[in-house]
Amino acid sequence: MEKTKKLFIKTYGCQMNVYDSERMSEALGEDGYEETLNPNEADMILLNTCHIREKAAEKVYSELGRFKELKANKPDLKIGVAGCVAQAEGEEIIKRQPLVDLIVGPQSYQNIADLASNAVDGRKQIDIAFPEEDKFSLLKQKRAGQRGPSAFLTVQEGCDKFCAFCVVPYTRGAENSRPVSRVIDEAKHLVESGVKEITLLGQNVNAYHGTGLDGKEWSLAKLIWELEKVDGLARIRFTTSHPNDMTPDLIEAHGTCKKLMPYLHLPVQSGSNKILKRMNRSHNAESYLSLISKIREVRPDILISGDFIVGFPEETDKDFEDTISLIKNIEYGQAFSFKYSTRPGTPAAERDQVSEEVKTARLHKLQDLIKKQQKNIQDKMIGRKVHVLFERKGRFDNQLVGKSEYLHAVNVTDPTISVGELKQVHIDKSNPNSLSGSVSN
Ligand code: 5AD
Ligand code: SF4
Repeated sequence: MEKTKKLFIKTYGCQMNVYDSERMSEALGEDGYEETLNPNEADMILLNTCHIREKAAEKVYSELGRFKELKANKPDLKIGVAGCVAQAEGEEIIKRQPLVDLIVGPQSYQNIADLASNAVDGRKQIDIAFPEEDKFSLLKQKRAGQRGPSAFLTVQEGCDKFCAFCVVPYTRGAENSRPVSRVIDEAKHLVESGVKEITLLGQNVNAYHGTGLDGKEWSLAKLIWELEKVDGLARIRFTTSHPNDMTPDLIEAHGTCKKLMPYLHLPVQSGSNKILKRMNRSHNAESYLSLISKIREVRPDILISGDFIVGFPEETDKDFEDTISLIKNIEYGQAFSFKYSTRPGTPAAERDQVSEEVKTARLHKLQDLIKKQQKNIQDKMIGRKVHVLFERKGRFDNQLVGKSEYLHAVNVTDPTISVGELKQVHIDKSNPNSLSGSVSN
């Protein structure tokens, strides 16, 4: 279809939103929209939003406020809110910011093209339903489009765990896995368009339990083994996981599956058993530590990444110190850490809150420790040979940037290599946020 309209999408939050934005852009592309990076020339602006912490949710409203003038000068401009704020706040968004024309929750993206066409003459469109059907199978896909060498592929959505701080079970709904055949078809399609690395996404991806090729329920490990057979696909990753769903077959796959990369994002949130219990995490610090040991037994060089929340209600200095000792025990190659943020409707929102000052101090202490561990692990890469998949051009002439199997960013300056190539690289130097090296055969 001829592209006559311009679409500007801004994505907030997690990688699932990045994937969803790509799929929305593709679907709207089939409907005559072409993506632009300039909101001033857009016919439609879509904000794909995140509700996980208060700050993320508030950003949406300040961003929407900025479009007031644009909309006043261009009354036909359509402004849409997608993602988790759309799901959680629905019609409230229009009440707070009447310039919004359409609201579409993460389970309704298959309707986005219709909603966009109906959002004319001030007719507001709201779709935050949770349909049964796999929305991705209904979203039109770009045909043989050229992509970068690394892509996301959502295989599972939603969560049944109900951690006491988290809005995900409410915004993304119950756990739902896509059938294996659809995932494999999509992976093949991605590989045909130039992809060499696929990151399987899910809010709780290791709880994957999709219908397998034999009609039975398959685990994430089984899905990974099936993907391993896809010719041309070089690397498989998955994120994000819950410790309780690290099943023996998935642990085993880290030792035996050649395409599965030695990097595991396994959030623990806290190292205090009291807090873990109050978080409703249904694991404790010891079970997490022993799980990591098991994984390291089968894959000693695996890089471990995690998520932490500091200042969860009723967290004492002692509880926080337990988190610090757990971190010292594990040695993280990467971690994401957050101050607890009260989310309306979640159980922890009602409890005794920790002061902002204490949260800030704890966050700094935790992040200092993580930074040291990260640097230490990165520095140990010097002198080693890693495999780098080159993803984009760097800032300097003939410089390319890619990712090692451990997900470290690696820069190489070499005129003979190109984006999309996978090369063995000798690491020469460790920089603040990356490594540098040279191709070595
Ligand atoms: N406050 C702070 N951090 C949170 N996360 C989820 N909910 C909250 C909250 N209410 C963090 C968790 C999760 C990551 C995606 O976001 O660490 O693993
Ligand atoms: Fe939220 Fe993850 Fe807990 Fe599910 S497992 S409720 S997504 S933090």
